[in-house]
Amino acid sequence: MPDGSPGVAPAGGDAPDGDAPDGNAPEGDGALGGRNLLLGVSGGIAAYKTAPLVRLFKKAGAEVQVLMTESAERFVAPLTLGTLSGRAVLTEIFPETSGEGTEHWTKHVSLGRWADLFVVAPATAQTLAKLAGGFSDSMLTATALSARCPLLVCPSMDRDMYAHPAVRRNLRTLREDGCAVMPAAEGELASGLTGAGRLPEPEAIFARVAEMVSHGDEGHRAADGVEPARAEKSSHTLPHSLADRRVLVTAGPTREPIDPVRHLSSPSTGTMGFALAEAAARRGASVTLVAGPTALETPRAAPPGHVERVDVQTAREMHAAAQEHAPAADLVLMAAAVADYTPAEAADSKLKKDAQEGDDLTLRLHRTPDILAALGKEKPEGQCLLGFALETDDGPANARRKLREKNLDWIVLNSPTQDGSGFGTGPNEATLIGADGREEAFEQMPKRALADALVGRVATAFEVPASEVPASEAPGPRTPQ
Ligand code: CTP
Repeated sequence: MPDGSPGVAPAGGDAPDGDAPDGNAPEGDGALGGRNLLLGVSGGIAAYKTAPLVRLFKKAGAEVQVLMTESAERFVAPLTLGTLSGRAVLTEIFPETSGEGTEHWTKHVSLGRWADLFVVAPATAQTLAKLAGGFSDSMLTATALSARCPLLVCPSMDRDMYAHPAVRRNLRTLREDGCAVMPAAEGELASGLTGAGRLPEPEAIFARVAEMVSHGDEGHRAADGVEPARAEKSSHTLPHSLADRRVLVTAGPTREPIDPVRHLSSPSTGTMGFALAEAAARRGASVTLVAGPTALETPRAAPPGHVERVDVQTAREMHAAAQEHAPAADLVLMAAAVADYTPAEAADSKLKKDAQEGDDLTLRLHRTPDILAALGKEKPEGQCLLGFALETDDGPANARRKLREKNLDWIVLNSPTQDGSGFGTGPNEATLIGADGREEAFEQMPKRALADALVGRVATAFEVPASEVPASEAPGPRTPQ
């Protein structure tokens, strides 16, 4: 192991109960005060940089649990990282080999729930492949699978390995799964080659971790341009958690058939509703997403969040699906652009021009059910109901009227006339109005960020006081194990 890393405590140094090993590192009030971090170390030469990294985490007030792969132990001694972190390093998942009791067997689960963030540094090509493939053959990989918190991977390997299509593919998969990826730095590599593959300096990793932890519920932190689903605080550490809550979201347009080849609809893409479903699932909710016709993929959610999708076409079908799922919902987010009218009769075969009299065609339309108003009428005790108002004129007055008349708790006002509002995949700008008179204007931002902010506000109604958090969710023991 390379020697001389700053801050490595002398072997045998006294580090009881999480105290700073060098006796002068302040704890508790720093940038990471009260945060629980998992540091996964895999076997690359850059593993030596984790000693100063642990020290930075500890100085900033974090509790740190180090998980090492077997090969990492060849590069840095578990005793070093155990001493610096104040917690025995974990490598094995099987109690008989770790020498601990059978309760140790589920430690990967409890650690995954305990942590606010899991950072894997260095992440070797082998460990990246295992993480991307969902392997669970070590304490590090099993905990990564169990973790409900954001995962940050910091790849480090030789230049040509880092450029290999298999490694790029695994990094892509991890990003798609919502992991944040900190790109490798460029420079001189252990092989003597020069290029990308170096583990970023501990200070840079520390800064990224601090940023992710402090902006955990804002929904936009990925410096590498990705807005990963997992780059959020875990649902159990979010102050406004929706864990154990059922959420119904409607999204997209409806399509009202005129004949087999024509319909009435709106330009809605479903982007806002899908983003709301994702934001709720990130907070641990079980989401039912009733979706009109849209090209969007169902949002993926890390457990315990979950999205179940119900596809519908018409306003009538959406009404039926909403009525089926609303009674059990704690929160209903009605983002669909429901057609207000549907043709009185849909022709069974294509309407032919020759069959019409003159150049005009008259369609007779019927009103569709107002789904939201119906849900408002039947709203169960304790349910929170949110609707949207898309207004071109007198926005605030119309939105407040709809809020009142449809018996809503919240309404989100936006306007297709504002630049960057309304339909489509672009950004959105909106005002959230509460039945209690609260109003909050959100400046223009991507729909995912807006959805996250809206769900964050609305979820305050479900906030569980810290005193009621079950013991099983509380932070784990603080003494070295
Ligand atoms: N909505 C609904 N069922 C309808 C029409 C609208 O559930 N048939 C819901 C929308 O999903 C939205 C809210 O009602 O959450 C307001 O929709 P909006 O189109 O702004 O207003 P309308 O109530 O349809 O009234 P108007 O078209 O007259 O503005």
